[in-house]
Amino acid sequence: MAVVAVTNRIPASGLEALRAEHEVRAWEHEECISRDECLRLIAGADAVVTLLTERVGEEFLAAAGPQLQVVANVAVGYNNIDVEACRAHGVIATNTPKVLTETTADTAFGLMLMVTRRFGEGERIIRSQTPWQWGMFYLLGMGLQGKTLGIVGMGQIGAAMARRAIAFGMDIVYADEHEAAVELLAGMPSGSVRRASFDELLRVSDVVSLHCPYMPSTHHLMGADQFAAMKRTAYIVNSARGPIIDEEALVAALQSGQIAGAGLDVFEKEPAVHPGLLEMDNVVLLPHLGSATTETRAAMAELAAANVLAVLRGEAPLTPVT
Ligand code: GLV
Repeated sequence: MAVVAVTNRIPASGLEALRAEHEVRAWEHEECISRDECLRLIAGADAVVTLLTERVGEEFLAAAGPQLQVVANVAVGYNNIDVEACRAHGVIATNTPKVLTETTADTAFGLMLMVTRRFGEGERIIRSQTPWQWGMFYLLGMGLQGKTLGIVGMGQIGAAMARRAIAFGMDIVYADEHEAAVELLAGMPSGSVRRASFDELLRVSDVVSLHCPYMPSTHHLMGADQFAAMKRTAYIVNSARGPIIDEEALVAALQSGQIAGAGLDVFEKEPAVHPGLLEMDNVVLLPHLGSATTETRAAMAELAAANVLAVLRGEAPLTPVT
């Protein structure tokens, strides 16, 4: 029996799978684990299940000890993990791709609808009991039909966003260092999807939606110059990672009317949100709910557990990070 540390609460199905084969040390309190408690919990573990809120680097690996074999992140993004350090310590890192694709694309699509149709603004008017009356010109938004969606990063989630947008009558341009894998574009009408340079995407899109991973090359990918290149009527949607956007530059672009609005599920200094964003009506803000459904979170926990079990059995992990 090996020791598996689980650094925060995860759905029961994941924990049960781990407990069936190993001794599990799990943090089961409502509030998130503190760094010190986390480092104590993982000491001597053969495997650790982490959330995106844990930083996994030299300090973490040293605290766990040399017997550590695998870190299974319950997230598709793994910018919280120093993959090079894991490699140097002979520790396998895994993530949870695919199981959260549709749910996260739903979140991105929801943000796009909310911000372009001003649903957040409307909801706030009702909730604050602000007087209102139906009117021909009241709270007019932008229709999506016939508009162009620019998808930055045509991976699984980008493709799922594209499928939704095509069903709503949008045209898609996408920018990716790599041509999208054929299976990702399968079933999409060829006339509605085309690859473009990042610069062209910014110029032609009515909505720009970010679906790329966060890494040094995508830090502040969207800054002052990129917002200036967008149409003044265009919107930005971010359901990927906060620091892909320079939040200061975004606030300036919104304040000066350089772009029309923003739908954000993630923030540069999460959980802090730039105070400028809180004041703007043309901004929709969600607290990182991308994959937050009961079904998807259970599937993520089960996949993380399956990765741990495979490695501890001496088998290949199902979804190692690249
Ligand atoms: C959530 O943000 C994830 O990366 O799974």
